[in-house]
Amino acid sequence: MRTLIGAGLIGAFVLVAGVATAASVNDAARGAKLYDARCSACHSVDQNLIGPRHRGVYGRRAGSLVDYQYSDALSHSPIVWNDDTLDRWLASPRSFVPGSRMCIKVSASDDRRALIEYLKSDAVR
Ligand code: HEC
Repeated sequence: MRTLIGAGLIGAFVLVAGVATAASVNDAARGAKLYDARCSACHSVDQNLIGPRHRGVYGRRAGSLVDYQYSDALSHSPIVWNDDTLDRWLASPRSFVPGSRMCIKVSASDDRRALIEYLKSDAVR
């Protein structure tokens, strides 16, 4: 009986973990499409365009690429890009970092989440 409950618990855990992973993978795939549609006019993963390149951006300090000319506001900011800071940045860059130069907002929170999953994914790491 005990083993059965144990096995059941492990099964439930594997199921929950599996669903969470599948959700992130789906979000990342949706995020990649959103990135093409809403970010790629100014950004690419490996090249600086109007905006800085994004490879490795998750976990990096804001405004820290040496070969991109950031606004003073972003280059002097102590922000490190994680789920929370990216969410606030994408919702409204200029309210989150006054004086910064990115002028678009992503108002839907599930779109922001998908974009963040994409920025965290192996494709952009
Ligand atoms: C109209 C051009 C434009 C678009 C579209 C745009 N960005 Fe930006 N982005 C910029 C600029 C310019 C900066 C640098 C801001 C500064 O220096 O103040 C920037 C900076 C960033 C940064 C900070 C990077 C770093 O190295 O610190 C992130 C993250 C970012 N953008 C994500 C996105 C995402 C995700 C999208 C799509 C939803 C997007 N941007 C769409 C112009 C744009």
